[in-house]
Amino acid sequence: EKIEKGGFEHFMLKEIFEQPEVMRDVMRGRVRVEEGLVHLGGIHDYLDRLKQAKRIVICACGTSWHAGLIGEYLIEEFARIPVEVDYASEFRYRNPIVSSDDVVIVISQSGETADTLAALRLAREKGAMVMGICNVVGSTIARETLCGMYTHAGPEVGVASTKAFTAQVIVLFMLAIAMSKGRTISHEEIRLNLRELAEVPDKVARILEQNDAIKEMAVKLKDARNALYLGRGYNFPVALEGALKLKEISYIHAEGYPAAEMKHGPIALIDEDMPVIVIATRDNTYAKILSNIEEVRSRKGRVIAIASEGDREIERLTKDVIYIPQASAAVLPLLTVIPLQLLSYHVATLRGCNVDRPRNLAKSVTVE
Ligand code: G6P
Repeated sequence: EKIEKGGFEHFMLKEIFEQPEVMRDVMRGRVRVEEGLVHLGGIHDYLDRLKQAKRIVICACGTSWHAGLIGEYLIEEFARIPVEVDYASEFRYRNPIVSSDDVVIVISQSGETADTLAALRLAREKGAMVMGICNVVGSTIARETLCGMYTHAGPEVGVASTKAFTAQVIVLFMLAIAMSKGRTISHEEIRLNLRELAEVPDKVARILEQNDAIKEMAVKLKDARNALYLGRGYNFPVALEGALKLKEISYIHAEGYPAAEMKHGPIALIDEDMPVIVIATRDNTYAKILSNIEEVRSRKGRVIAIASEGDREIERLTKDVIYIPQASAAVLPLLTVIPLQLLSYHVATLRGCNVDRPRNLAKSVTVE
C-alpha cells in the first residue's frame, strides 16, 4: 500500500497531486487547440442528435452531481441548450417528464451508483437518448448507456472524490464546446476557450505548490464546528463541493451557498466562530462578492478567500487569501476547487481523521 501511495501519506493527497497529469490525460487526443477542434470518439456518431436536443437532463449523486451543475453552466453558456440537473435519487421517483427529444447525461465515477443506474434505466424506458460520463471502464452504467465518454482519471481510492471530479468537469467542458461548434460560438471563441482549458494543468500545478501555506490556513479551521462556503456563477458548485469535502473527511458541519443567498438565511449564523470560505476570483460578480465579504466581516465572521493572482483589493478585507492564477470564468472551477480539496485534507489530518476511509461513507453506493 505504501508503494501504491507513491510517497504520499494518503491516497487522497496523492490523487489531489495527480490532477495536473490526469487533466492532461483527459484532454490527450481529444483537444486540438490550434484547429479549434474537440474529438470525442465515444459520442462522435451521436453528436448531431445531441446538438438537436430540446433539453438536456443531467443526473448524478454526490460530487458527480456538483460536476453536473458546472456542466449546466457550461452547456447553457456555450451550446445554448437548456439543461436541468437532478439528483438521480429524486429523478427516479418523481415521474419525471422525459421524451425522445431529450438527452439524459448520467455522471458517475464508479459507474455503479444504484440511484444513478436506476435513473439511467428510467430515462431509457421513456425514450431519451442516454449518455454516460464514467471513470471506471466497463462499469454497469458505462455498459448500459447508448454512448458516452470516459474520464480516464485512473483508479480513485480515496473515498472523497478529487481527481475524478476535475476530470468530469473537463469532459463536460469538452462536450459543451463540441456541442456549440458550428452553431452558437465562433471558431475563434472555440480556440480561445480550448487554449484556456489547455493551460489549466500547469495552473493547477502552480496552486499545488502552495500546499504548505494552505496547511497553515487549515490550522485556523481545524477547531471550527461549522463552516460556510460561498461562491457565485461557475464557483457556486465549487462552494458546494468545498463544503462537501470538508464534511466528508473532517466531520465539520459545512454548507455551500450561492453568495447572494447568504442574506436569506446563513447570515443569521455568522459570528466570530463561523469561518466563511469565499471564492472571490476576478469575474463578472467580483464586486458583488467583495460586498458579501464586507457583510461577513461586519458580523465578525472569519474570512478565508480564494482570489485571483494580482488582486490587491482583497488583502484589505482579509489576511487569509489563497491566490490562484488568472483564467477565464468557465475554467475557474478547475482551479478554485484545488485549494478547497487541500484545505479539507489538512483540516482532516490535523483532526486525526482517517481521510481515505471516512466513517459511514462508501466509495461507491450500490444500494439505495
Ligand atoms: C459516494 C462517494 C462520493 C461520490 C458519490 C457518487 O457518496 O463517496 O465520492 O461522489 O458516491 O458516486 P459516483 O461513483 O456515482 O460518482
